[in-house]
Amino acid sequence: DAREHLSEDSKQEQLHEMREDHMGEYLTTDQGVRVNHTDDSLKAGERGPTLMEDFHFREKMTQFDHESIPERVVHARGTGAHGYYQPYEDPDLGEYDDISELTKAKFLTDPDRKTPVFTRFSTVVGSRGSSDTVRDVRGFATKFYTEEGNYDLVGNNMPIFFIHDAIKFPDLIHAVKPEPKSSTPQAATAHDTFWDFASLTPEITHMLMWVLSDRALPRAYRMMQGFGVHTFRFINEEGDSRFVKFHWLPKYGTHSLVWDETTKLWGKASDFNRAGLYNAIESGNYPEWELGIQIVEEDDADQFDFDLLDPTKIIPEEDVPVRRIGKLVLNETVDNFFAETEQVAFHPGNVVPGIDFTNDPLLQGRLFSYQDTQLNRFGSANWDEVPINRPLAKRHTNQRAGFMRQTINKGRTSYSPNSLEDDYPREATEEEGGYVHHAEKVKGKKIRSRSESFRNHFSQAKLFWNSMSDPEKQHLVEAAHFELGNVENREVRERVIYEIFNNVDHEFAVRAAEGIGVEPPDEPGTHHPDHDKSSPALSQENTV
Ligand code: HEM
Repeated sequence: DAREHLSEDSKQEQLHEMREDHMGEYLTTDQGVRVNHTDDSLKAGERGPTLMEDFHFREKMTQFDHESIPERVVHARGTGAHGYYQPYEDPDLGEYDDISELTKAKFLTDPDRKTPVFTRFSTVVGSRGSSDTVRDVRGFATKFYTEEGNYDLVGNNMPIFFIHDAIKFPDLIHAVKPEPKSSTPQAATAHDTFWDFASLTPEITHMLMWVLSDRALPRAYRMMQGFGVHTFRFINEEGDSRFVKFHWLPKYGTHSLVWDETTKLWGKASDFNRAGLYNAIESGNYPEWELGIQIVEEDDADQFDFDLLDPTKIIPEEDVPVRRIGKLVLNETVDNFFAETEQVAFHPGNVVPGIDFTNDPLLQGRLFSYQDTQLNRFGSANWDEVPINRPLAKRHTNQRAGFMRQTINKGRTSYSPNSLEDDYPREATEEEGGYVHHAEKVKGKKIRSRSESFRNHFSQAKLFWNSMSDPEKQHLVEAAHFELGNVENREVRERVIYEIFNNVDHEFAVRAAEGIGVEPPDEPGTHHPDHDKSSPALSQENTV
């Protein structure tokens, strides 16, 4: 394999070629012409109109007018940093496992490799300028610039998600984002549309519990767990497939703010998490995570009382322990937020040999969405040429054109197969590192429906509630009071209490109801004390 061996610093070296320090002797135009005067535009007389021929004015203004690009449709608010990932060195210690039997992904198994990474953390709902400390899920996306190509682990700080199927994602986001007429509220789940959607979508229940918990208020990005959420596959050299869940475990431990702190920080330090990451790295206190994996053999996939393809479920760690296989260290802040953090483009479909997908219907839809949205964000398919997105692995593609193409692909041809050019890049066999999709056997009718196995909506939500200490339970109840207390529609409030919370835990439902003017349910399960109002959406669903 003639691939160049990468070092921890290779991404920095690649970026270095694109860096400019603006410290030249003279100010110039974009064309390199020295500027003589930049404070006054060229005019016809001292009090006359500005002249079209003032190329310096026009260039300065045109560049400025085009400085902004669309923000991400979700996860718009974020911050990022560079670092490296390294598999643990000494599997013989017994403390950590050698996983080369499980995956052929070398960046995960070769302890001599330090793979450069870029990680971006984010909130989901708020716009680019919104506050950091809102109640929300946090994104935790890492791009590994591996020798085999870029691998993106595009995760969140919660191990599960709101919905089962990607086709509901636009509905979920429309419900949680500001309403179209008033464009309020900004960055908050505390409003009618979100809770209306939630009350009619029982698969959301487990995630609701996480979102109402202190997990939604991380103290610092470096004190936050991360999760791949979906079940993925590991593929080894022999082509064997196993299921895998990814976890990031922060060295600093997992810590949250309390609600009172977060609301003060909205006003006093709205960059709290962004500044926290920056300051930690600049002061040499490098944030660090261990990468953990849970492995399930294909033959054991049916042993759980939930479906491994259901992204609203965790695999309990008592059943499948988390094995720690390496560490992520963030040790370099960006030089230019726009060029790096804003222009980084993650995509769950960026995989390397050794890692593959499953049929989780949420993951399957994500595989379409990210490149599609990035076409909108960048206005061109060439975003992979932007320095932060460029792989370190050598590229020999048949691409050659498009808006802002930067690579100058030489030669007469750009197609395969090809006999006109000597040594034209050929396809790689699996042994040569060619990516081969796992040959999973599939058979079925084309239908729009969901497996029965996805229908258990409440048991893990109950597990989560039961795992909490009393103060944590109290925080969750108070969060429900605030969030649901802001819902004006009485039926929505009732439906959440009677049809969602009361199926999680009766005591929780009663305590939540007491703070929001809803009559507490008098017995567990779906139940309306005064009238029978079971919603049509729910009557089709199995309530546990
Ligand atoms: C960002 C779609 C579920 C994690 C995004 C973006 C879109 C999107 C369109 C903006 C990307 C960009 O402009 O570059 C979806 C869809 C989902 C889904 C359609 C479900 C069907 C998830 C899940 C996770 C997740 C389950 C976590 C496991 C992220 C993260 C980002 C993101 C971390 C921000 C990446 C960054 O920092 O640039 N998502 N998403 N998303 N998504 Fe998802």
